[in-house]
Amino acid sequence: MKGIILAGGSGTRLSPLTKVTSKQLLPVFDQPMVFFPLQTLIKAGIREVLFIVAPDHAGDYLNALGSGTHFGCRFTYEIQDKPAGLAQALSLAETFVGQDSCMMILGDNIYDHDFSEAVQQFTSGAHIFVKEVDDARRFGVVEMDENKHVLGIEEKPEQPKSNLAQTGVYIYDEHVFDIIRQLQPSARGELEITDLNNLYLAKGVLTASVIEGEWIDAGTFESLFKAAEFRRQQVCQN
Ligand code: TTP
Repeated sequence: MKGIILAGGSGTRLSPLTKVTSKQLLPVFDQPMVFFPLQTLIKAGIREVLFIVAPDHAGDYLNALGSGTHFGCRFTYEIQDKPAGLAQALSLAETFVGQDSCMMILGDNIYDHDFSEAVQQFTSGAHIFVKEVDDARRFGVVEMDENKHVLGIEEKPEQPKSNLAQTGVYIYDEHVFDIIRQLQPSARGELEITDLNNLYLAKGVLTASVIEGEWIDAGTFESLFKAAEFRRQQVCQN
């Protein structure tokens, strides 16, 4: 399975920190943010990783990450000209992924869950990862049955059907790029990941599992601070 890290985007919620650098290169205690999703993929057993980056900061990513040798991996880079959505960013990985399956992770998402079992068990369709949250109305809310089949995903619903939020890791089979070609831009002009997942859902091949441990989307000042505290505790324990 190939790995894809989304490190483009505009990072407006972290401005002015993101005026001269990319959000995913900001420090989280002792490491650049992007090292965390990278370590998540490595822990899952993935060694071939594509970084999707914005044109302004592409050189900084090369300097920070290099060829991958230092991490025991092989890295590839693609430039996303404009932040046109998560599914549009994923579409840039078509040549890299080829006929393989892929795990995509958002470059600002920090986990301590081990995804290796899910990677080994994946055969076809799409698989998403959910986490129990207190305030489900702020998230994409996932309803699923006891066989892990997803019954529905609702974006920021008034009355959530579960307390399970869709998080920033997704596994797709080799058909994902054909399915992305069926998507239309949303009202905000982006190719949306939830629309992609809903096409898999309509085919009856979208499954989900509940993750354990911490999940931090470090895209706001509060959550970036929380991420640094989480990392500091990890470092101090060792
Ligand atoms: P978001 O946090 O939704 O968007 P953003 O990073 O542009 O931040 P803000 O909302 O504050 O402006 O993006 C989630 C992740 O996906 C993040 O790591 C950036 C990445 N991303 C891309 O690589 N390309 C894109 O087109 C978008 C929208 C996001």
